[in-house]
Amino acid sequence: MHINEQLKDRITHLSNLPTLPQVASRLMKIINDPLTSSSDAAFVIGQDLSLSAKVLRLANSAFYGIPRSITNLNNAVVILGLKVINTLVLSLTVFDLFPESRSSAALFDRKAFWLHSLSCGVAAKLLVSKSKKLILFDPEEAFCTGLLHDIGKVIMEQYFHEDFHEALKTAKNENLPLFKAEQKIMGFDHTDVTQWLTQTWNLPSEIHLPLIYHHKPSKADTHQDIIFLCHFSDWLCYETGMVINKKYPAPDLDPGSVNILQIQPDDIVEIKKELDIELKKASAFYELAANG
Ligand SMILES: [Fe+2]
Ligand SMILES: [Fe+2]
Repeated sequence: MHINEQLKDRITHLSNLPTLPQVASRLMKIINDPLTSSSDAAFVIGQDLSLSAKVLRLANSAFYGIPRSITNLNNAVVILGLKVINTLVLSLTVFDLFPESRSSAALFDRKAFWLHSLSCGVAAKLLVSKSKKLILFDPEEAFCTGLLHDIGKVIMEQYFHEDFHEALKTAKNENLPLFKAEQKIMGFDHTDVTQWLTQTWNLPSEIHLPLIYHHKPSKADTHQDIIFLCHFSDWLCYETGMVINKKYPAPDLDPGSVNILQIQPDDIVEIKKELDIELKKASAFYELAANG
């Protein structure tokens, strides 16, 4: 995967690029080692006290719905599992990496951005439970993919502030999906930025590829099911109004989506209904991640 040339030109002049904090990258590395024990993972997370507190509070929240209380990190890892803990830490870390900025709320409301991201994560998790194609796919990875799918927009807001705001205006005035307006103004879009941002993060392909291909799912050579899952979840968010700003039109749905994911029209109706209930549970995630 090569990085867009225009983007490459601009990022070489930037300093202070966001890198994934130690704890998350360390955890990402050890998670795939079969010799890693729950206490190894708990030890790594324990290096960051504020993160540890958030992990514990979230593990005890309605979001995971564990009936008994989890009192220490080791228990949290044992009960939730290494994969869940890994995606949980990754999601919390990314939230922390991009605190509220000088953004002009009318055009790019950061809270609305995270709520759209959260809805996409929840929709992806629900779809995993309905799609016959995704039966073996991990619902927490699906959630993480949805949560992070548009992360490039936050980087654009931070590093290419004026151009990004120009793209926001163009999307609204010319009735273009935001990623197309970004391409028009900058020659690249938020998925290119995500690709550049995450290239050193060692994300598993199941999480990484949907972030890059969610606006062009049929262009991917591998992992199409999971990429279509993210693409469809994003579309569902537009269908249900869970978007950053209703003035930006929805990206087109790839017509192959329903077939590839093997979902029935009834499932879609059902997911739209469940989305609302699940989002209420997931709001604990936003409150904790954003406000600590
Ligand atoms: Fe997107
Ligand atoms: Fe999106």
